[in-house]
Amino acid sequence: MSTVLITGANRGIGLEFVRQYASDGAKVIAFAREPDRANELKELARKHSKIEVHKLDVSDFKTCAALGKTLAGEPIDILVNNAGYYGPKRQSADDMDFDGWACTFAVNTMGPLALAQALHENLKLGREKKLVTITSGMASTATTEGGYLAYRATKAAVNNVMRNLSVDWRKDGIIAVVVSPGWVRTDMGGQGAPLSPEQSVSGMRQVIAGLTPADSGKFLTWQGHERPW
Ligand SMILES: NC(=O)c1ccc[n+]([C@@H]2O[C@H](COP(=O)([O-])OP(=O)(O)OC[C@H]3O[C@@H](n4cnc5c(N)ncnc54)[C@H](OP(=O)(O)O)[C@@H]3O)[C@@H](O)[C@H]2O)c1
Repeated sequence: MSTVLITGANRGIGLEFVRQYASDGAKVIAFAREPDRANELKELARKHSKIEVHKLDVSDFKTCAALGKTLAGEPIDILVNNAGYYGPKRQSADDMDFDGWACTFAVNTMGPLALAQALHENLKLGREKKLVTITSGMASTATTEGGYLAYRATKAAVNNVMRNLSVDWRKDGIIAVVVSPGWVRTDMGGQGAPLSPEQSVSGMRQVIAGLTPADSGKFLTWQGHERPW
């Protein structure tokens, strides 16, 4: 049985990851900022005894670091850094909310590294050793269309962080990738998005299942294609 840890698990893509991995019989460690209000997640946990729900704000780096102790000795096969924030309303080239951008950076870029560091030993104990960070096609510098500077920059930065980490942790057999989920119908993606969470997550799960050490450091789409950086 695999153990999968997922952040931002109370809604959207994160909740769907929990649903699908739990249905497949995995043990799921699900993190939400406000577990008491995570009604759909709690309902899932009532149906699947192998779902554990815990509280975590990924921008609280001290709490992230403490997780290494709380989960000491627990093998983690797949860590999905899913929690994400679209950023402040004002994030254009002409008008930027810099404080909001800093918060976005904490959630989208620093949180995923804080968690990866805290759970490095757990990943080493896991059979699969997969560190998956949900990025965005909007992170691509090569294909940018302008606008949404804060969101794009924080996702481009986490791509860079994970690419470098993949080199540093190759010695441990850890496979680190960034995966873009496509444009998905969630609170963030909006109702006009072409993909359902079910489609995106089942695609990403297939990609994750097929990862080998040769894939570490790649920027992949939900269908497993490589994206230009
Ligand atoms: N939907 C799309 O089209 C799309 C496209 C490209 C990339 N993505 C990426 O996919 C991931 C999931 O997005 P989504 O569409 O499911 O978005 P969503 O519906 O807005 O959900 C975002 C999730 O992240 C959590 N979160 C935000 N800030 C957090 C923090 N500081 N600590 C812990 N959790 C936090 C939210 O928790 P709360 O409920 O507590 O706020 C929520 O669970 C994100 O990384 C996003 O950037 C989405």
